[in-house]
Amino acid sequence: MKTQNALHESKNLPIYQHKATLQQAVKDNSFLVVTGETGSGKTTQLPQYLHQNIKLTRKLYTLYYSLRIGITQPRRVAAITVAQRVSQEMHCSLGREVGYQVRFDDCTTQDTVVKYMTDGCLLREILADPVLSQYSVVILDEAHERSLNTDILLGLLKQTLSSPDKASKGRSVPLKVVVMSATLETDKLSVFLGGCPVFTIPGRTFPVTSKFSCAIGPKDTESSVYVKEVVKVALDVHTSEMAGDILVFLTGQSEIEKACDMLYEKAESIDYRYDVQDHKVEGLLILPLYGSMPTDQQKQIFQPPPPGIRKCVVATNIAATSLTINGVKYIVDSGFVKQLNHNSRVGMDILEVVPISKSEALQRAGRAGRTSAGKCFRIYSPAFWEKCMPEYTVPEIQRTSLTAVILTLKCLGVHDCSEKPVRGKVTRLGELMVEFPLPPGLTRALLQAASLGCEDLLLPVAAMLSVENIFIRPGHPEKQKEADKKHRQLGVQAGSCNDFTMLLSVFEKCKASDAPSAWCKDNYIHWRALKSAFSVETQLREILLRLQKKRDFPMEKFNGNKSELFRRCLCTGYFTNVARRSVGKVFCTMDGHGSMVHIHPSSTLFDQEAQLDWVIFHDLLVTSRIYIRTVCPIRYDWVKDLLPKLHEVDVYELSSVAREEVTDEEVAKWVTKEAAKRQTGGSAEDVF
Ligand code: CDP
Ligand code: MG
Repeated sequence: MKTQNALHESKNLPIYQHKATLQQAVKDNSFLVVTGETGSGKTTQLPQYLHQNIKLTRKLYTLYYSLRIGITQPRRVAAITVAQRVSQEMHCSLGREVGYQVRFDDCTTQDTVVKYMTDGCLLREILADPVLSQYSVVILDEAHERSLNTDILLGLLKQTLSSPDKASKGRSVPLKVVVMSATLETDKLSVFLGGCPVFTIPGRTFPVTSKFSCAIGPKDTESSVYVKEVVKVALDVHTSEMAGDILVFLTGQSEIEKACDMLYEKAESIDYRYDVQDHKVEGLLILPLYGSMPTDQQKQIFQPPPPGIRKCVVATNIAATSLTINGVKYIVDSGFVKQLNHNSRVGMDILEVVPISKSEALQRAGRAGRTSAGKCFRIYSPAFWEKCMPEYTVPEIQRTSLTAVILTLKCLGVHDCSEKPVRGKVTRLGELMVEFPLPPGLTRALLQAASLGCEDLLLPVAAMLSVENIFIRPGHPEKQKEADKKHRQLGVQAGSCNDFTMLLSVFEKCKASDAPSAWCKDNYIHWRALKSAFSVETQLREILLRLQKKRDFPMEKFNGNKSELFRRCLCTGYFTNVARRSVGKVFCTMDGHGSMVHIHPSSTLFDQEAQLDWVIFHDLLVTSRIYIRTVCPIRYDWVKDLLPKLHEVDVYELSSVAREEVTDEEVAKWVTKEAAKRQTGGSAEDVF
């Protein structure tokens, strides 16, 4: 029944009337740009049309038939949910004719002909097979998002197809590339691709009225403020507006969970006889939607709510273009997004909450006008719009570190990958590193451990850092206390003195437990996250085993203390993330920026700062302060040779950030302390 509905719906989508034209256009062109309003059917339908086309013309295109159609998505959730939907429409079980592949999760078989995947996965495939010989058509979806990997793929595919020699090498039939985008900047795209045709799917949109509020001004970036405000506005909409679903845009998992908790609580006390204006509305169905949610829960958001019930989806930016939720009439826009940015205050890439761009705000509002006129409630003021929101979102390639991508490109033999030619060849180590779908620092630490024969310490840590947060922190204050206590206990039991060993210990304890899911529940640990960590660890181990079999896999000897081994391996990878304690609980990063950072309260080392001197950390979180997360104490002499620049850092030099946050008195004290320390050559504790 559901499948029939889906099929019926798909014939009503705007793209349906253009099926034949699109099929022909792909046949006739190497590159094609396809654009159309969000929800017109590009992602779910076009791959099916191309697949059918190949089937129908099988006689002529026998060779194509055995090849795949690959569709990339910048977000893993989109790849998974869309593949699910399309497998339903094509009456096959997921993983057979229609499948998906995202990092650490490959749901494809030899039968898979329509393959949805993240752009990162296709980039890895290109590494192994530059002409993508398995594919007849590659569709780069959501190109307007300008994700780093999609941009790189665009460049690489353009280069490959523009040289006929390269393009046909190892291929039986020419590759076709379709680039899909929401209605933005398609002309630029076409010019970039040598003036290829642009196919626009005409769509109808309905007017959306937008209303600003004064709740969020230019200075209100605390999550507690905007979470509270979106909840209030969503409830106002629910009680005062006529039927129609609500879509709330928030920043990330924890904010979404908080908002949903608050909504559940408040929605319970609504008296539908008196409080709600539209008496046909008799309940509120609250559904979260974020990247790392279990997929069976994600499915729910696409289903229509029961009669009389209003659906309220609280989502990240994923609902802006990647996924279309039918029936939405009201938007509540927080005005913020969680984005990976190169933060010049700290000189590193940080996932941070920033105001969205004006074009993004318009895209969000547009989600309310797909099937009828809608309303968008912005919780921010016109001043916020003017002063804080840029016109357009800066493409990821211009705002994040390119380390991993440049390594990939160089391994592919692309050496002119930046305006400044990148000198140097990839070392053997670099070639090994590129095999791991992990951040370079973590990969380096893992390879170091492997070369010293202690990969069992690092593999679980790398896996744990590759899945969603494993620690549960309930919203209820009492439960929160209990969870914190349990987590502390886990740390103590492990005898762990840092957050990396804590991760290792949780992994090992859970794995050794007879009833792992109960163990997790008891210790406030996400069982689902741990399950993924187990699977990720196995996959990383497989990659490592494959590399270790090679003759020239590096092996080293370690002469130091055994208990140092683990931390020294970490230092090899994280030498760029070093901080030294300066005043009280304040640490100073040693990357040349000298930013003032604090240990995040979730760390096992929180509140023990006084006993620490040098530390390394996995990542940073910027709110009103800069926090370092997943921290490990180290010794200066372990990193000093890895980062010669460290010597040049003048620890007295306080950055502008420091001046903002540390009082003059504290600075004076610190300087005296530092001077004394230099004189005596001892540690801070020796002096004070
Ligand atoms: O890619 P584009 O934005 O043009 O549209 P689409 O993602 O192909 O969506 C077409 C229709 O399929 C929309 O009405 C979606 O709501 C629906 N859809 C769905 O019901 N379930 C999914 N998992 C994905 C899409
Ligand atoms: Mg789409």
